[in-house]
Amino acid sequence: MGEIVMKQNGLMELLKTRRTYRRFDQTKKIPDDAVNDIVRAQQYASCGNNRQPLRYIVVRDEKLVDEIFGITRWAASLPPEQGQPKDGEHPVMFVVVLEDNKLKNAITGTDAGLAISNMTLAAWNHGIGSCIIANVKKDALKELLSIGEEYTVNCVVAFGYPTHKSTIVEVGNDEKLSYYLDDNRDYVVPRKKIEDVVKFM
Ligand SMILES: Cc1cc2nc3c(=O)[nH]c(=O)nc-3n(C[C@H](O)[C@H](O)[C@H](O)COP(=O)(O)O)c2cc1C
Repeated sequence: MGEIVMKQNGLMELLKTRRTYRRFDQTKKIPDDAVNDIVRAQQYASCGNNRQPLRYIVVRDEKLVDEIFGITRWAASLPPEQGQPKDGEHPVMFVVVLEDNKLKNAITGTDAGLAISNMTLAAWNHGIGSCIIANVKKDALKELLSIGEEYTVNCVVAFGYPTHKSTIVEVGNDEKLSYYLDDNRDYVVPRKKIEDVVKFM
């Protein structure tokens, strides 16, 4: 029992600290065992009617990673000089999340969210940070990776070893929700209080 409780606390800590990371140590590549866990984690995610409409491209090739980075936009809430990773801070891997047009339906977005959540948690379990990026030039990405017309780009997920921290702070209902950088350039992410978003009946 004690062990189960300890494991549950470990999971809650993992959930709390698995935040969005936007500056990485570009010299540190992601080892194969971590990549294997990340792709396995999507397989463990639930999906509507078990249709499995999602496909993935794991990009680790330096030149391709660089080219994908060039068509992504980071941290819309911050000025680019603060939010956009600089040279040496780029991610070292992208996972492109695709929807198979023949299989997708109204709940494919939920499937994608669950799969992405699993992958980013599996990565964080290895100390690898991530940033989910919807703001990617999708047509350019399709051309770059020769992705066929039968697929729709859902998003890309960037991975790397983070060089900053990120912390959640609880805020009141009337406070601003934009994330910001503190004096150490660590991210601070305001979150609504439980009592402001959950009703118990
Ligand atoms: C569906 C989705 C799309 C996102 N797109 C972007 C993006 O294009 N660029 C970016 O820098 N962050 C993006 N993010 C990260 C969010 O800005 C981040 O999750 C939010 O600020 C809360 O921070 P947290 O993930 O640490 O809780 C995205 C997150 C989600 C869930």
